[in-house]
Amino acid sequence: MVSVVILAAGFGTRMKSNLPKVLHKVCGKPMLYHVIDKALSLSSDIKIILFNQKDLIIEKIKSDYPSFLLDKISFVVQNHELFPGTGGALMDNNKQCINFKNQNILILSGDTPLLCENELDSFCKYAINENIDILVGATNVANPSGYGRIILDSKNNLEKIVEHKDANEAELKIKYINSGIYFCKKNILDTTVPSIDNNNAQKEYYLTDIIKHSHKSNLNIIKKTYQLEENHCKGVNSKLELSQVEEIMLNILRNEAMKNGVIMHLPQTIYIECGVKFIGECEIEANTQIIGTSIIENSHIKANSTIKDSHISESDIGPNAHIRPKCQIHKSHIGNFVECKNAILDNIKAGHLSYLGDCEIGNNTNVGAGVIICNYDGKNKHKTIIGKNVFIGSDTQIIAPINIADDILIAAGSTVTKDIKSGSFVIARSQEKIIENGYSKFFKK
Ligand code: UD1
Ligand code: CA
Repeated sequence: MVSVVILAAGFGTRMKSNLPKVLHKVCGKPMLYHVIDKALSLSSDIKIILFNQKDLIIEKIKSDYPSFLLDKISFVVQNHELFPGTGGALMDNNKQCINFKNQNILILSGDTPLLCENELDSFCKYAINENIDILVGATNVANPSGYGRIILDSKNNLEKIVEHKDANEAELKIKYINSGIYFCKKNILDTTVPSIDNNNAQKEYYLTDIIKHSHKSNLNIIKKTYQLEENHCKGVNSKLELSQVEEIMLNILRNEAMKNGVIMHLPQTIYIECGVKFIGECEIEANTQIIGTSIIENSHIKANSTIKDSHISESDIGPNAHIRPKCQIHKSHIGNFVECKNAILDNIKAGHLSYLGDCEIGNNTNVGAGVIICNYDGKNKHKTIIGKNVFIGSDTQIIAPINIADDILIAAGSTVTKDIKSGSFVIARSQEKIIENGYSKFFKK
């Protein structure tokens, strides 16, 4: 068993944002949640270290996680004024190490959302099986700028970690970097954390200094590095890095979908989020966005469409369709420039240029081009119910609230405001006038 601690108290100044760094989203999910979810797969004792905008972060976590998971999470407030830095994150007000339940501690950062569950599991198992006191997740990168450099001794044991801002010219050339993922025995943290000082370029208490301090002590402790996959340890300090991390995550999500039988055209132009599910055989065309908790089941999503928090089954959507939250679209054809919101559509056709909001539309109904459901009266939203086998002529406006029964024909260009009984024909157009020779009279030809 391990206890996990997630460092998330930093100011994230390099993000240049009012939103706390760890709440910035990667594929629709806050960075910190990516880390919390991995931690939950490994441990039932998770401490999250907070300071900057702590109330906002705690409130959000409490509203987004169910209580049986919240039971495994506790929040610790760093005394950042007294002890800033990643080492300070583990210090209590008396500069002692905060208290952990277990002997084995896994330390993660809230800004490394690409961590891999299996890799973390192997990382901890290796440390425990080999009886290692400090194990540092490390990786080789082409551009080590900004990362702490790993310094090994002649026996390949970990000697120290030097931060970029403190590194000399030779150290700056090292491309073996600290991922910010550590395994450490509780007794080592208890003895080394109090010795961390802020004698460095950033005047901060560096957690990485526990390595140097354990070295000074007489204990015969084992310190090693563990090679992690480069992509998995990418940290986010800026919005540029946020986009780079998101691109890696998108590749993972898209590849997984394609492996499971989804066809993707120009996959690198398709944006999908972590909560999206594909079921059965789906085909997704270029430049589509599938967002939130959408489920796409045996459906074809054509180019340039957006789908958010909706369930699409056995349907084809787009090109250029916009499916907004809470739609359930089954066995339907939704064509270009059709916008749907909170719409339950069952075996319908809406081929062109429509707005279908806050409605239920039944089996075999045809929605003509340019049909608008007027769901908003300027104060409130209202509901529309349309039955089976209804033919709604083009350019019809349906003023909600309204109930349109089965087997109804509505003439093109109508504005319908009253409930309609089954079997009716409705026409509501202003009367047409034709003036013979009107053209020549007007233009005097
Ligand atoms: C840190 C490591 C660096 C490593 C890199 C990997 C140190 C001193 N440096 O640098 O060796 O290569 O991560 O990504 O540890 N935090 C707190 N309290 C603080 C300051 C930071 O909890 O007072 C949290 C941050 O919210 C963040 C994490 O610790 O989630 C890392 O902090 P950050 O400032 O991003 O460290 P780096 O400069 O990236
Ligand atoms: Ca960082």
